[in-house]
Amino acid sequence: MKALVLAGGRGTRLRPLTNTSAKQLFPVANKPVLFYGLEAIRDAGITEVGIIVGDTGAEVRAAVGDGSRFGLRITYIPQEAPLGLAHCVLIAREFLADDDFIMYLGDNFLVGGIQELVASFRPQDYAAQILLTPVDDPRSYGVAELGRSGQIVGLAEKPDDPASDLAIVGVYMFTPVVHDAVRAIRPSARGELEITDALQWLIDNGHHVHSHLITGYWKDTGRVRDMLECNRIVLESIETRIGGTVDEGTEITGRVVIEPGAVVERSVLRGPAVIGADTKIIGSYVGPFTSIGDGCEVSDAEIEYSIVMNASTVRGVSRIESSLIGKGVEVTPARTTPNTHQLVIGDHSTVRLRA
Ligand code: DAU
Repeated sequence: MKALVLAGGRGTRLRPLTNTSAKQLFPVANKPVLFYGLEAIRDAGITEVGIIVGDTGAEVRAAVGDGSRFGLRITYIPQEAPLGLAHCVLIAREFLADDDFIMYLGDNFLVGGIQELVASFRPQDYAAQILLTPVDDPRSYGVAELGRSGQIVGLAEKPDDPASDLAIVGVYMFTPVVHDAVRAIRPSARGELEITDALQWLIDNGHHVHSHLITGYWKDTGRVRDMLECNRIVLESIETRIGGTVDEGTEITGRVVIEPGAVVERSVLRGPAVIGADTKIIGSYVGPFTSIGDGCEVSDAEIEYSIVMNASTVRGVSRIESSLIGKGVEVTPARTTPNTHQLVIGDHSTVRLRA
């Protein structure tokens, strides 16, 4: 069995950060979302992995390399534009050959791995297998309608009027018959070749698409609040590890990871939290469910339930909460009278200031 990992796309819901960076590399507890998926694939015993890359391909290649450090063999498959999930299968035809494969959306986060899922797939009986889970707002997802005996009756991509609350999770298993399906379907109203339509094509043409209800934690990290929630879930299970230096004036409660080279002085750290390598936390409060990346500076500041990416500075500001701060960002007070806000921010940013 092979794996096809999708790491192209645009990530419009995470702009402006995705204007310059791959959303699949956004950190959850200081590790790229994509790496959790690659590790899950490896742990399921799969070694041959194709990764679909788009505009941010160079960044993805630099981060993942040839895959050897994950114990994987990676083949990169460039996609000229984000033309849909089924388009990814179409262009991966040569890599996939006639093998069964798992398709894993690079921005999806599944706790508990995929071992059981891969083990339960019965390619002699199923043409494909999908995972479903109940969600609050099914209109943002592919949605499945099930019949009385649990069989799939219909599938729809981001329907205005969902037939159920069962979302399609971004981990699919396919036999090679899916190649007929992706060739047969046409682009949807939003101009994409939808994998949901390919699955529907399989059903309409008499193939068995098996569905499996998952109860474990799953998130599509496509929105800021989902990233923060994933970060919370992963931080819940960290164990304390102090690789950096912490002075006596610092108070630590709960579980924290402080990476080598980090310096923490005169601060309050409330875990769970992760402080990246070579980061300085000085005279600050870092609250629960916060990840600070590598090479950052947080001084005279308070921050909680947030993600700060590498090489950013947060200085002299109180209290930042529920925030996603990109790489090389500077957040400092404006030294002006009257007490104004001075903003230099990119297109499609979201800034919520205290009025
Ligand atoms: O997360 C689950 C949902 O994923 C499913 O419920 C939907 O049925 C499915 O269509 C998909 O919806 P999204 O709108 O979340 O897909 P998104 O455009 O975010 O793409 C998912 C991943 O695939 C993401 O890592 C980007 C990558 N991608 C996407 C497209 C459209 C590509 O590599 N190439 C593409 O052409």
